[in-house]
Amino acid sequence: MTVDKVIISNDVCTTLKTVLSELDYDRLFILTDETTRDVCMPVIEGVDGIADAVSIVIGATDTHKTLDTLATVWTQMGEGGGTRHSLMINLGGGMVTDLGGFAASTFKRGIPFVNIPTTLLSMVDASVGGKTGINFNGLKNEIGVFRQPEKVIIDTQFLRTLDHQNVCSGYAEMLKHGLISDVKTFAELIGFDLDKVDYRYLADMVGRSVAVKERVVEADPLEHGIRKALNLGHTVGHAFESFALQFEGQPDNERGIRPVLHGYAVAWGLVCELYLSCVKTGFPVDTMRQTAQFVKDWYGTLPITCDDYPMLLELMTHDKKNTAGTINFTLLGGIGDIRINQTAKKEEIYEMLDFFREGL
Ligand code: GLY
Repeated sequence: MTVDKVIISNDVCTTLKTVLSELDYDRLFILTDETTRDVCMPVIEGVDGIADAVSIVIGATDTHKTLDTLATVWTQMGEGGGTRHSLMINLGGGMVTDLGGFAASTFKRGIPFVNIPTTLLSMVDASVGGKTGINFNGLKNEIGVFRQPEKVIIDTQFLRTLDHQNVCSGYAEMLKHGLISDVKTFAELIGFDLDKVDYRYLADMVGRSVAVKERVVEADPLEHGIRKALNLGHTVGHAFESFALQFEGQPDNERGIRPVLHGYAVAWGLVCELYLSCVKTGFPVDTMRQTAQFVKDWYGTLPITCDDYPMLLELMTHDKKNTAGTINFTLLGGIGDIRINQTAKKEEIYEMLDFFREGL
């Protein structure tokens, strides 16, 4: 299996024109959500071939990452004259690239697709690496396939219209990439001011961050081994995300908890899993504390109590990364020193949650 060909571009139109001229297809589909149709589509609509593409628009936000939405996309591909020789462009955040990638991977047993990510999270993570899918039965990304895009075109100009929370959300995945790579990259990331974003500098960092992910995916596209490095922060992060999701539709709940963006949960998950790394695999305490302070400053905290621990443990136990009921963690022995397939006892997990609850 070959992995993505990621193109970092500062002129998405010219790059897309070149990419389209190099690919053979009979029909072009372009998938956006209601936000990227209005904000991002105008940027590329002048590119040769785009005016003739069949436009498919889905609802924005993760609540639309469903089988029903997928069925409407398949229907429109069929009604729009799609064949096995058609091409799909996914223009949007992680929801669009995940769902669009899955729609393309399954339509007529699979057609090629090109991702043009428009959020920081999708640039550095979701659009790269070939994971596609939808949520199902209340579980995130429960149904999906691995299939690599033909190309991923990353143009950070799209980040200029992204709100602060979404910049922070994507940045958590960049921080993760720093932690699994090297001290220099980590130091650069931890020193960045997320309040006054230097977009030119961010563009350079995005390029380096994507390169970290590409290297890992290249080595293990189907996540049998080292790709699990990318799960750092995610065992606890997914539990926090699902936990907060229970408060959806209850904005006035007395605990003040609301559903959170993925990267916020990952940032909190990183703090927890670095704490566990200190206890179990010798990660340096000062680097863990430095990361915890950064996360506290930019992401705040999730106000959990001890009464929430059993539920959080239960959510960790049901993570799809596990095998046979044990909770699978990716930990670090130091920056870049990756220890996959680690487990922890209930007492250790509760101690980690104590640290998070008291320290953040
Ligand atoms: N988001 C983690 C991965 O792509 O493996």
